[in-house]
Amino acid sequence: MKKTLLSLAALTLLASGAQARTWEAIKQSGTIKIATEGAFPPFNILKGKQLTGFEVELAEALAKQLGLKVQWVTQPFDNLLIGLQQDRYDFVIASHGITPERAKAVDFANPHYCTGGAIVSKVGGPKTAADLKGKTVAVQVGTTYLENVRKVAGVKDVKTFPKDTDAQAALMAGRVDAWVGDKFTGLDLVKAQKGKLVAGDLLFSERIGMAVKKGNAGLLKELNAALAKAMSNGTYAKLSTKYFGTDVRCKN
Ligand code: ARG
Repeated sequence: MKKTLLSLAALTLLASGAQARTWEAIKQSGTIKIATEGAFPPFNILKGKQLTGFEVELAEALAKQLGLKVQWVTQPFDNLLIGLQQDRYDFVIASHGITPERAKAVDFANPHYCTGGAIVSKVGGPKTAADLKGKTVAVQVGTTYLENVRKVAGVKDVKTFPKDTDAQAALMAGRVDAWVGDKFTGLDLVKAQKGKLVAGDLLFSERIGMAVKKGNAGLLKELNAALAKAMSNGTYAKLSTKYFGTDVRCKN
């Protein structure tokens, strides 16, 4: 938590620093550099050497619409917005919830899906915010799950993990009472563990967006236009159905 607050604060301070690549420069180069984590199934995941997932396929579809090739960069989740600040890539797509705090440091595109943070526990474990009283909870570091679990009164301990999959493993190993993470990830987890886990309540809802460097209005405009097009021409619906069996776009 402390580390996350510090890095976001530092980021906000740096927000007036070096120049990001403009849309014109990206277009001229013919290749857009996109960063993600690659450890957050089913959104962005490295399968062997192959980066895939809903967000990876969506970003590739957007780049194609924009007439660009893609160069992927993978980074630990907690470093992604910092690297953006350092101009190491043009945008980030890694399931970032659009929060006021993050929006001070980066600019967000229109949301590419809507979701929430859900509780998952072993059968008989906590299912509601009230049930978390006196319990230990596993979350990925730097996430909105951490922020929101900390707001729940009476939680005994929040254990943070560099990767969400490590937080899930802690639940399976019985080292914590519950995991809080993305609701779609939670559904997949419950399914994969065949009867051992139960999905509990949503702790909060969030809108998820791609991030560009603060002030990169030209690139943001192009990304929003490409996303709107994908959402109206069936590209988005097809990908969403493939990964979730439903359309996960924000309804309002
Ligand atoms: N939606 C959550 C957040 O905004 C979690 C995102 C985690 N993404 C990832 N690639 N691990 O913090």
